[in-house]
Amino acid sequence: MNKQKTDLPLIHFENVGLRYGMGPEILRDLTFDIPKKSFQFLTGPSGAGKTTLLRLLFLSLQPTRGLIRMFGRDISDIPRPELPLLRRRVGIIFQEFRLLDHLTTYENVALPLRVRGKDESSYKTDVLELLKWVGLGERINVLPPVLSGGEKQRAAIARALIDRPEILLADEPTANVDPPMARRLLNLFLELNRLGTAVVIATHDLALMDQVEARRMILSEGHLEIHD
Ligand SMILES: Nc1ncnc2c1ncn2[C@@H]1O[C@H](COP(=O)(O)OP(=O)(O)O)[C@@H](O)[C@H]1O
Ligand SMILES: [Mg+2]
Repeated sequence: MNKQKTDLPLIHFENVGLRYGMGPEILRDLTFDIPKKSFQFLTGPSGAGKTTLLRLLFLSLQPTRGLIRMFGRDISDIPRPELPLLRRRVGIIFQEFRLLDHLTTYENVALPLRVRGKDESSYKTDVLELLKWVGLGERINVLPPVLSGGEKQRAAIARALIDRPEILLADEPTANVDPPMARRLLNLFLELNRLGTAVVIATHDLALMDQVEARRMILSEGHLEIHD
C-alpha cells in the first residue's frame, strides 16, 4: 500500500454546517479529521450538538453545507443504495440503546447479521464470544427488560461491534450507570481501541474524561475546538 493511502484519516470534515429544516445552524464550520485507530471524547454542554454530530458520522443525517469524506470517499458522491454498506463500517451505540424487548440478548446482537440473511452457523460463535467479551456470557438468553442499565449498555456495545466496524460511536454511554460500571465500560472502549478500532465517545461526564488522557473534541455554540 502506498504511504498516502495508509495515512488517510477514516473521516474528514471540511467547513461542515448543519441546520434542521429552517432552524438556526446547530453546527458551523466544522473542520477536523478522525484518524484511524484514534480514541477521542466528544464533549460540550447539553444541546451543543453532540448527538447531531454522531448522526452525521453515522450517515443518518446529511450536512447542509461543507464536505464530509468517509473512508476516503466524498459522501455526497455515494449513491443512496450504497450507504448501508458504508454504514456497516461504523458501529453506533445510541443513548437509548434501541434493543428489541422481545428478542434475547443473543438475538439482539445477532440481528444485524440475521436480517442480511446470514446463516446462523456462520456467526453463532462470534456472537457468543463477543457477549463473553462484554461480560454478558451468563445473560445470553435473557430479554432486555430483565437486564440492568449496565447490562443493556453492554448488549448495545456487542451489537454495535458484531460487524467489526472500523470506528465505534457511543452516545453518552455512561449516562445510566454508576461510576464503577462507567469505569468498566470505559475499559471496554479502551481495549477495543487497543485492538485497532477508532472510538468516539460523546459525553459530558467530566469524571469519566479525567480517567484517561485522550483527545477531546469540544462543541460549543456550534463550533468545535480540539485538544489533542
Ligand atoms: N430532529 C431535530 N429537529 C430539530 N432540532 C433538533 C433535532 N435534534 C436536535 N435538535 C436541536 O439541535 C441542538 C443540538 O441537539 P443535540 O445534537 O441533541 O445536542 P447534544 O447531544 O449535545 O445534547 C439542540 O438545540 C436540539 O434542540
Ligand atoms: Mg445528545
